[in-house]
Amino acid sequence: MKILVVNGPNLNMLGRREKGIYGDVTLDSICEQMRALADGRCELEFFQSNHEGDIIDMIHRTDASGIIINAGAYTHTSIAIRDALLSVSLPIVEVHLSNVYARESFRHKSYISDIAKGVIAGFGAKSYLLALDWFLGELA
Ligand code: DQA
Repeated sequence: MKILVVNGPNLNMLGRREKGIYGDVTLDSICEQMRALADGRCELEFFQSNHEGDIIDMIHRTDASGIIINAGAYTHTSIAIRDALLSVSLPIVEVHLSNVYARESFRHKSYISDIAKGVIAGFGAKSYLLALDWFLGELA
């Protein structure tokens, strides 16, 4: 089983960006923590892009069995990423490091939540681990 982990714009800046909100953790460290949790029980493919079309192309070409996605700000704006996710009919878990519902109102709208199996927000790097844990239980 393979899980595709998609990270959208500005998530490559974790560890440097808005540390008061996102903390010190880097994207590399999150990937490492996920690999350690998977411990060979599933294959993980990591993809990060700051470009909407590249994220859509990656979703179209994936051969994974499920997708963990933090679309960053595109979460709140991108009907195109929503449509790409719908086009591949895979189980999706939406993740956010921060609790978007405790932040600005423009972050309360997600174009992904209602087509996802579930949404995990507010637990920092652990949001990704909780999402992976669900996949490990569900698809093993
Ligand atoms: C984020 C929340 C988004 O609102 C923001 O644009 C991000 C990160 C999060 O992980 O908390 O880039 O997706």
